[in-house]
Amino acid sequence: MNITKSETESKILRAVRELGSSPLTEAGVVEHIHPLFSRSLDRNQSSDEIYLANHSLGRPLDEIADRVANSLDAWYTDLDGAWDLWLKERDQFRNCVASIAGCSQADAVVPKTSAGQGLRAVINSLPESKPNIVSTRGEFDSLDFILKSYAHKDRATVQWVDANNEGLYQTDQIIASINQETDLVVLSLVCFVTGQLITDIHRVVEAAHQHDALILIDAYHGFGTLPIEFDKLGADFMVAGNYKYTRGGPGACFLIIHPRHLSSDGGVPNPGSLFTTDTGWFAKKDPFAYRRQDTPEYASGGDAWLEATPPAIVYAQANPGLELVDAIGMERVRKYSLEQQQFLVDKLNEVGVQTESIPQHGAFILIPTQNGQEVVTQLKANGVNVDARPCPQSGRWLIRLCPDMLNTQAELIEAAKRVCRVFEELKA
Ligand SMILES: Cc1ncc(COP(=O)(O)O)c(C=O)c1O
Repeated sequence: MNITKSETESKILRAVRELGSSPLTEAGVVEHIHPLFSRSLDRNQSSDEIYLANHSLGRPLDEIADRVANSLDAWYTDLDGAWDLWLKERDQFRNCVASIAGCSQADAVVPKTSAGQGLRAVINSLPESKPNIVSTRGEFDSLDFILKSYAHKDRATVQWVDANNEGLYQTDQIIASINQETDLVVLSLVCFVTGQLITDIHRVVEAAHQHDALILIDAYHGFGTLPIEFDKLGADFMVAGNYKYTRGGPGACFLIIHPRHLSSDGGVPNPGSLFTTDTGWFAKKDPFAYRRQDTPEYASGGDAWLEATPPAIVYAQANPGLELVDAIGMERVRKYSLEQQQFLVDKLNEVGVQTESIPQHGAFILIPTQNGQEVVTQLKANGVNVDARPCPQSGRWLIRLCPDMLNTQAELIEAAKRVCRVFEELKA
């Protein structure tokens, strides 16, 4: 499968072409990109809420409703003929994810319904029946829980790397935990609580490989908000998904396998090699030949990592957001995000709200507080939709605020005033 763009220019591609190729400005984004979100933006008029939880659930484009309806219409009108459209949407999904993640081989992108499902497929591909895994205390709950359940069932040994007193992870400490016994390293590119970006993650990849270990990177808080070069980084696996920065809703996640691990011919793998038991008939060689031999014969390339019948309509839900981000380009998305974040930090600081400064970070800013849940409830009651997470070890709460292309500076100024009012009332 090659990376291709759709032949007819969609509304999204036209809007991005008309936006031009210069760095993003609020005027340009409002004129060209906002009309793609009329339904999401209508809510602003009716609710008076300022949405800054874009790092949690991204806001949907209008096009999603049309594309999903189209996929459903095909079912009503074409019945099993709908599979042609559904699989075309799936291929487009793989193409777009590969392009955004810097992966040269689109079939190396294997759709999953969650990032955790990708992690399980990887653990269940390892030759070792009880692998030694190195990970950090800062992984998202889903991956953290999966690793703990494997350890509890005696199906893995997990060595956990702790954060320092500020809740940050030190690359050297992660590297020092990897040794000859290590089979797999599981590490976030951007930590979900603090937003810490592991800028020298390539050093962890190199260290893992020096010890013949594999490495899986959880890029959920990086994908669609900052440039990622998967091939160049050389990690063995990457998991992420689309309900945050690429506005694709839940269920549209993926695992990427480095092309060097993919076989161009497929066939029956050596039992001691890297192939997953999280599988199903879509991973078979020639699935529609219905051959039943006693040894599993896998498809070639990344298709060997597919599973059973896929949730085919979810790709229509995810593709518009992927197409938008891919067309704008990650460098521009990242630059605009950093400018918006700095603007919000400045406005908060001007009204006396202290923010936590993490020099290299993802797409959200932080406000430390004693009681995250209470503050978030009050902020929502005052029309600022954000969330908060406790640091895994210290329990210290951090409120996460993520402006995105739909937020204007006027909104961010108003949000800062509302946050200040709530903090004064709560003395938080
Ligand atoms: C870093 C990170 N990884 C993974 C996930 C989601 O994991 P899953 O798709 O397994 O629910 C999230 C969700 O917020 C996340 O922040």
